[in-house]
Amino acid sequence: MAIQWFPGHMAKARRQVTEKLKLIDVVIELVDARVPQSSRNPMVDEITEGKPRLIVLNKADMADPVVTDAWLRALKRDDIEVVAVDAKHSKGLKQLMSGAEKLMQEKHDRMREKGRNPGPIRALIIGIPNVGKSTLINRLAGRNIAVTGDRPGVTKRQQWIKMKGGEMELLDTPGILWPKFEDQMVGYRLAATGAIKDDILNLDDIALYTARELSARYPDQLKERFKIDQLPEDAVELLELIGKKRGLVSGGYVDFEKASELLLNELRHEKIGRVSLETPADHDMA
Ligand code: G4P
Repeated sequence: MAIQWFPGHMAKARRQVTEKLKLIDVVIELVDARVPQSSRNPMVDEITEGKPRLIVLNKADMADPVVTDAWLRALKRDDIEVVAVDAKHSKGLKQLMSGAEKLMQEKHDRMREKGRNPGPIRALIIGIPNVGKSTLINRLAGRNIAVTGDRPGVTKRQQWIKMKGGEMELLDTPGILWPKFEDQMVGYRLAATGAIKDDILNLDDIALYTARELSARYPDQLKERFKIDQLPEDAVELLELIGKKRGLVSGGYVDFEKASELLLNELRHEKIGRVSLETPADHDMA
């Protein structure tokens, strides 16, 4: 596979997140609801160890709701505090706040018993690029904030962003973790959902993976979108058929690259409907 995982990046990200952890009460780990396992860095458990953590399945508006429910149940069974949100349209933010409060409740109760005011919950949002960190910070803040990642060589004073109700404060620079391509499937899932750029993996391979997955998981949505009565079993044939249906033919041949781009674009822009490419059952968590 052409993609590499750069240990140097991860070491730096780890240092930056570790520094921030000293300042906060709760880690809000953002993952993509369509690929919740592949869109997290497996080292995150180790990096954030000891800090209360809330997992947020973001982009829930684009994910299959049945699969998102299955993820919520599977993670809760493991005693993980988890919520599904749609940061773009400000949905699920109240549940997110309640989740963070629940994590801090015992500590805050103890403080109150001692006559101390716990103050707002201080939180850090972490996640891989493109998962919606900036969008969530803006929505929670109720205004647009220029959210920037840590830039090499630029030392910036950390700022606390007050949430609308004042119950929580967020660090303005989210923790950016790199995805880890432990196996090829992780890379394909991230590429299909647009979390990583198409040029990192071979476009044809991503499209073939996507055609295969959609045929298996969402055959009816695929048929309806491309007006296909019977899906060919072979993914190459399916892509060719999609190309033909959309007139992507020149000199008698289907333009495979254009058909690949079209399928991926339609998936990423929800034209094929709500789709999840990973379930708890895929990870023996059902
Ligand atoms: P990051 O800071 O983690 O890198 O991610 P960012 O917030 O920039 O979000 C990346 C893309 O994901 C943006 O789309 C954003 O609008 C979209 N997004 C974030 N949260 C959600 C969500 O809950 N639902 C949906 N449907 N989309 C979400 P973009 O195309 O880059 O920008 P724009 O066209 O939306 O402005």
